[in-house]
Amino acid sequence: MQSLAGKVIFITGATSGFGAAFAENFLEKGAKVIATGRRRERLDELKLKKHPCGKNLHILQLDVRDQKAVSSAVNALPKEFADIDILINNAGLALGFGPAMESPLADWEQMVDTNIKGVLYCTHAILPGMIRRGSGHILNIGSVAGTYPYPGGNVYGATKAFVKQFSLNLRADLLGKNIRVTNIEPGMVETEFSVVRFHGNEGKADAVYAGMQPLSAQDIAESVLFCISCPPHVNINALEVMPVNQAFSPFAVHRKSSA
Ligand SMILES: NC(=O)c1ccc[n+]([C@@H]2O[C@H](COP(=O)([O-])OP(=O)(O)OC[C@H]3O[C@@H](n4cnc5c(N)ncnc54)[C@H](OP(=O)(O)O)[C@@H]3O)[C@@H](O)[C@H]2O)c1
Repeated sequence: MQSLAGKVIFITGATSGFGAAFAENFLEKGAKVIATGRRRERLDELKLKKHPCGKNLHILQLDVRDQKAVSSAVNALPKEFADIDILINNAGLALGFGPAMESPLADWEQMVDTNIKGVLYCTHAILPGMIRRGSGHILNIGSVAGTYPYPGGNVYGATKAFVKQFSLNLRADLLGKNIRVTNIEPGMVETEFSVVRFHGNEGKADAVYAGMQPLSAQDIAESVLFCISCPPHVNINALEVMPVNQAFSPFAVHRKSSA
């Protein structure tokens, strides 16, 4: 396995959930982490909590929906963080759980802008440097929702299907460039994800995980750690991870009532 010591890792959405767990785990392994997200106070907390000296942690307030901001931030990185070895496209969200015909268009637009365009903007800004240096790893955070449909998953699942296929197509284009691409596809993980999905309704968010043991952000950090630490000739294309207590349903069939 490869050591992470000295590797520069750019993480989107490092202010909570998976992203915060990635930042803390990889700093502990000696990586140089660029932690990004919109909530400045969370980034400041991470800096104070983990690395007051700041040597291996660079924080960057960034909205991945803003293409110009993404491109300028990547171009203006301090020299010691400029050569990004690993990009983790993690920032993302689901908004709402209602059927398509009841979903606000603004929710759909925000999911597309964050989960799809944000991944594209970061990849487009960071990939050229990896090509120049002849090495790199792009690790996208997809979801089981990108493979398995469920009621209320409409646009969220579709954005993650995009991430899944984009990851595979990147692999095709990057053949011979020594750049790895991985799509991590988690099932239920307890983070702030459901609070965001239910627009701040903590009761509804808690109900999602009631009576079962979901995965934790740390479980996902360990899966990602495995993928990025594999020997350089090994590419994990996709990794689907679910809690044992989550599985699949039979097809739903709508029948005429027998009156
Ligand atoms: N939890 C699950 O069950 C689950 C399952 C499968 C996949 N996922 C995926 O895993 C990823 C991380 O989710 P999580 O569970 O860790 O949820 P989370 O705790 O809500 O974290 C989401 C992160 O994304 C960031 N983010 C959202 N919009 C952003 C924007 N426009 N620009 C920059 N950052 C933005 C948030 O930071 P700011 O608000 O500070 O910007 C936050 O750091 C997402 O892509 C999600 O779709 C989650």
